[in-house]
Amino acid sequence: MSHNSFGHLFRFTTWGESHGPALGAVVDGCPPGLTLSEADIQPFLDARRPGTSRFTTQRREPDAVRILSGVFEGRTTGTPISLVIENVDQRSKDYSEVAKAYRPGHADYAYDAKYGFRDYRGGGRSSARETAARVAAGAVARLVIPEVTITAWAESIGGDAIDPAAFDAAEIGRNPFFCPDAAAAARWEALVDGARKAGSSLGAVVACRAEGVPAGWGAPLYAKLDAELASAAMSINAVKGVEIGDGFAAAALSGEQNADPMRPGAGAPEFLANHAGGIAGGISTGQPVTLRVAFKPTSSILIPVETIGPDGQATTIATKGRHDPCVGIRGVPVVEAMVALVLADQKLRHRGQVG
Ligand SMILES: Cc1cc2nc3c(=O)[nH]c(=O)nc-3n(C[C@H](O)[C@H](O)[C@H](O)COP(=O)(O)O)c2cc1C
Repeated sequence: MSHNSFGHLFRFTTWGESHGPALGAVVDGCPPGLTLSEADIQPFLDARRPGTSRFTTQRREPDAVRILSGVFEGRTTGTPISLVIENVDQRSKDYSEVAKAYRPGHADYAYDAKYGFRDYRGGGRSSARETAARVAAGAVARLVIPEVTITAWAESIGGDAIDPAAFDAAEIGRNPFFCPDAAAAARWEALVDGARKAGSSLGAVVACRAEGVPAGWGAPLYAKLDAELASAAMSINAVKGVEIGDGFAAAALSGEQNADPMRPGAGAPEFLANHAGGIAGGISTGQPVTLRVAFKPTSSILIPVETIGPDGQATTIATKGRHDPCVGIRGVPVVEAMVALVLADQKLRHRGQVG
């Protein structure tokens, strides 16, 4: 009943806390013979790493990954791959006020209510430090699905959205927001700076597109591809909504507007639209798989909020310490990783059943 593992044939387990000596992942079920070294994983961790701009937490973590097992002479052996990342920049004293009062919106109260005990240093296991382990495991998953290209980006911050007409994939890596629209990225500098200086925070929508997913991945009924993507994205800290394809907007369309008409194509049908996000009946159609993920604003803010302490007494909390002013920014590489982990698992399960 501990639920720290995800996946079926390609399965990973994460372990560790924000202020423990290290955290990591064990990836089990990875096919043998894949070329794997730390260099295949590190770039993805570097994208998620804290402290790379003034728009993220100033916690300085190198997030250097070490592979402890499952690789021999540079290739996966088919045995569990253990990945470890050391925590080097903990400042537990920053969390003395979190010990005395619950941060509204964070997991403090819920962890106490469930376990009767909590590691308040950096939020313990509820901290998004854990997402570094997901990103490391996701880098291994990508090796299982070389035919797929996964790209995520920030679509809006604080309600200020990109202009879809200005979308430029090359721009995503050029600014600290993973933003594909240079003009929006420039606006977001002032927006996020303003929130940070006010001691506040902002939410964000992250979009993701997986190209190259062949028709056939996904296992009805209880392992539908869309259901597993939603579950994977929803398991990310601070995620409060997931849409596949047009998502909620589809509910406002008529049947003919929402159809993805098909024509005969060369070897595969040609689709004239992709409202469904590349998934029908829980199975990929061969179109790009698309999803959008809503991140709430960071709960740890300097602006005082009414709350209670562990003894039930009324108080207020202004959370000091180092926090992301907009968690959705560093959520972008985490969304990509979770999509890779779902797709790798679904690919192996499809092969297992259908050959
Ligand atoms: C990449 C990333 C970084 C985060 N950084 C912070 C942070 O600095 N401060 C904070 O209060 N929450 C942060 N969060 C969100 C919390 O971890 C999350 O809100 C908390 O665990 C409660 O879980 P829930 O929001 O899913 O209910 C971050 C989330 C992500 C994805």
